[in-house]
Amino acid sequence: MKDEIKSDYAVETRALVKSYYRGGVSFNAVDGIDLQVKPGEFVAIMGASGSGKSTALHLIAGLTRATSGDVYVEGERLSSLSDRALTIFRRRRLGIVFQSYNLIPHLTAEENVLFPLRADGRKLDESTRDKLRALMRELELEEQLSQYPDALSGGQQQRVALGRALIGEPAVILADEPTGNLDWTSSQRICAIFDKLNREEGRAIILVTHEPAVAIWSSRVVVLQDGRVVSDIPRAAYADASELAARYQELARVGAER
Ligand SMILES: Nc1ncnc2c1ncn2[C@@H]1O[C@H](COP(=O)(O)OP(=O)(O)OP(=O)(O)O)[C@@H](O)[C@H]1O
Ligand SMILES: [Mg+2]
Repeated sequence: MKDEIKSDYAVETRALVKSYYRGGVSFNAVDGIDLQVKPGEFVAIMGASGSGKSTALHLIAGLTRATSGDVYVEGERLSSLSDRALTIFRRRRLGIVFQSYNLIPHLTAEENVLFPLRADGRKLDESTRDKLRALMRELELEEQLSQYPDALSGGQQQRVALGRALIGEPAVILADEPTGNLDWTSSQRICAIFDKLNREEGRAIILVTHEPAVAIWSSRVVVLQDGRVVSDIPRAAYADASELAARYQELARVGAER
């Protein structure tokens, strides 16, 4: 049997394709993406609505199976895992955050954060409690521990969702428009948390966003169009959010003319 090709990246996709049917016709929502994200790298994914950002992120998260090609997360090839193994892998190794916070309404903030550990059948020992306290302090949620989601602001709910994603200490964090429902201040606060997780804790982050002001926190902006990578812009290539926005709009203009 052929040796399986390994990956040293935090996340790597190879010739990744996802096909869907629209009006009885098959099309590729993700159309051959080769993406390499190093351990400790922070990558933003931008692109017009429908360009395949969420589909790509869901493939990387193992929430959707690829039509062809491969996804490796920390060297593990997702297509070689059974559905059950993939669920466990996702819970233990990935931190995933969405635009909608998806909190469980009848659980308190603290219980929501602890949910993945409970789902994994883990006991709450003293070291887990210490970790929880440190995490809630870092997310500035100490006052909200026993509150239910409907009593929390959007920014607070998203920080609880981040806590839930982080409690298992994943090396890779995936976020699909995590600031999409938030005002400027709450949004930048979430970005600052991602920045800290990346810089101080060395976690790899892939964050999908429409907003240049969010994308500038990353070290690299990957732009998708029609399911393909059309640009890969390093942080050094622009000074601020408005320069990134100008560059991004230029790409969209050229894309529309093609
Ligand atoms: N489950 C599905 N079945 C059929 N088509 C789908 C499915 N999911 C996504 N698509 C299509 O695939 C394409 C890419 O969708 P995707 O959600 O990845 O875009 P996106 O870049 O995340 O857009 P947005 O910025 O609006 O969130 C779109 O044309 C969408 O309609
Ligand atoms: Mg999307």
